[in-house]
Amino acid sequence: MSIKEIYDLAIKTGINADPRGKAGVKRWLDGEKKKYEKLSNTPAGGDKALFDTERLTNPYADSRIHFNKEKQKVKTIAVGIDVEEAEIALIAAMNSDIDLIITHHPVGKALAALDEVMHMQAEMMASYGVPINVAEGVMRDRIQQVGRSLSPVNHMRPVDAARFADIAYMNLHTPCDNLVFQFLQDLVNKKNPDTVGELIDLLKTIPEYKEATKNNAGPMIFAGSPENHTGRIVASEITGGTSGSKEVYPELVKAGIGTIIGMHIKDESRDEASKNHLNVVIAGHISSDSLGLNLFLDEIEKKGIKIIPLGGLIRVKRTR
Ligand SMILES: [Fe+2]
Repeated sequence: MSIKEIYDLAIKTGINADPRGKAGVKRWLDGEKKKYEKLSNTPAGGDKALFDTERLTNPYADSRIHFNKEKQKVKTIAVGIDVEEAEIALIAAMNSDIDLIITHHPVGKALAALDEVMHMQAEMMASYGVPINVAEGVMRDRIQQVGRSLSPVNHMRPVDAARFADIAYMNLHTPCDNLVFQFLQDLVNKKNPDTVGELIDLLKTIPEYKEATKNNAGPMIFAGSPENHTGRIVASEITGGTSGSKEVYPELVKAGIGTIIGMHIKDESRDEASKNHLNVVIAGHISSDSLGLNLFLDEIEKKGIKIIPLGGLIRVKRTR
């Protein structure tokens, strides 16, 4: 496979598992197209010339190829949750046969645009029964806050390192998080754990969480108690960029949600969930990210590509 084929497969896989469904993704892309068409060009360039046209076909601004080496056939990939300057220097120093690096968390222009994928959280809330106007209202400030917090970051630094080492570099964030969302939501829908304790036990049957448990980072109850009934369970804090607003929790409870599964949660949000009697199960951050990457990596490994895990990735294969 070429770098572009690997990347395109990741985006397609992410769209297939997107909580908004194909229609929701199309709506988003149509919106981007409208924005693009409204922009104008000036002789000196202008906004239209500066627009990232990949947005017209890829709904995930937090995932990009950052340094490409055209037409290269990929045989070996180094993959991790965070493969940045330190790991890139190590790979370069080892003079290995690695011809592509995939990192999960956004870097470069994808990090600077992380806030944009957060809009999908409002659509997820709407699918649970929260009116879309309320969902968008409670998310608005938080999205802007994340956008502001990313603005001073030296986001091109790892991209510069990859370019200097002359190794192709991409990051795949929301497409992989969508795979975790789909995997966990399908699992809880099928197994329907009755109590929060049973939900924790169910999560611990997943190899990535089992391994994380051994490393003292397994699934944990952040709000509620093991004997609480779960009620309706949603994997609402698994995809959509980063954690949402604490104002979301009362709305989820009003919509009939009893338990949420997340990767991580801020303390002030945890307190708000507790106050609203919402059970919060934190499956684990790096273990959940590993699960998402693994589901995708299985697809490309099938095609004969060798995967070298590093940067926190707990590699588990689900193919024989
Ligand atoms: Fe993550």
